[in-house]
Amino acid sequence: MENIRRRFSNLWETPHKQPPREAYQFYQELIQPDNIVGVIGPFNNFIDKPALMQACHCVSGGNGSVFVIDPQWGPQKEPIDESSEKQKKHFSEVAGLGDFSSNHLRQIQIAKSNGIKLTLPQWLGPDSAAQKIELPNDSLDVIVDHSVSVFLSGGRLNRDPIECMSTMNSCYREYNRVLKPGGILILQTDRSEYRLKNNPFIRSLLDVFLENNGFDIEEFRVTDAFRIPVSTDVYDNWEQREFPKPFDSDKFSAYSMFKRMVNIDGAYYLVLDKPWSQGPDMLICTKANES
Ligand SMILES: C[S@@+](CC[C@H](N)C(=O)[O-])C[C@H]1O[C@@H](n2cnc3c(N)ncnc32)[C@H](O)[C@@H]1O
Repeated sequence: MENIRRRFSNLWETPHKQPPREAYQFYQELIQPDNIVGVIGPFNNFIDKPALMQACHCVSGGNGSVFVIDPQWGPQKEPIDESSEKQKKHFSEVAGLGDFSSNHLRQIQIAKSNGIKLTLPQWLGPDSAAQKIELPNDSLDVIVDHSVSVFLSGGRLNRDPIECMSTMNSCYREYNRVLKPGGILILQTDRSEYRLKNNPFIRSLLDVFLENNGFDIEEFRVTDAFRIPVSTDVYDNWEQREFPKPFDSDKFSAYSMFKRMVNIDGAYYLVLDKPWSQGPDMLICTKANES
């Protein structure tokens, strides 16, 4: 614990009683431009759920790369049902809103081609999941898990508690395996949404699973807000200022992005998501040296 406080002293200086900080500040502090980052289970629309886009932005100035780890994410050649059955065999239940049309990658490409600095992510394919990541040991500097492992473990899915525990354990064991020693897991749990907030048993159980799988943990309060700085060129030259007619999904994505560009204190930002009023919890975990 002391080790983790020393390492993240900038973040730790903010006492817990102060208002929560915005999630993007943590991402910017923790993800370095040369990092290799794994993003688990991103959503199919970065405007609503921008953790992947933020990771792509953080590594855009260096030689870093981003891997997407979500069996439902990429373009699916097989019919959905068949592929779900196949995934079920590998990973038990694969749940959530998958991106069957690679919508997310397309939106990131559109943003990049309009001048927003982003590194394009690489999908690891349908055989990679939180429980089984197709990467060798010690491959990643950072893992971003934004409401995935806690979601898969049960909570709102009303799973059998033994199955929940086993899923949680297999996710964190796998994260620990693929992280480099000292690597960081950014875990946003939103404990209240997953009913962990007021349940000390489950709450401490999550911590126990992380610790048993070799992580040191520190908890922070954040608002789930993301800001990506953009140059005035991007702002001034942005073309999609009017709602596209007839409807064209690429133009619509660009239009939605433009609507989210704002001037804050003289600088321009793409502002994604709305800060949640209560804010989710963020656990910053580091792979302990001996696990
Ligand atoms: C609750 S959503 C979270 C989405 C997004 N990260 C967010 O913060 O809103 C769960 C996501 O996990 C993905 N998913 C489902 N099973 C998975 C698994 N075994 N491994 C990795 N991702 C998975 C789904 O495709 C979906 O995008």
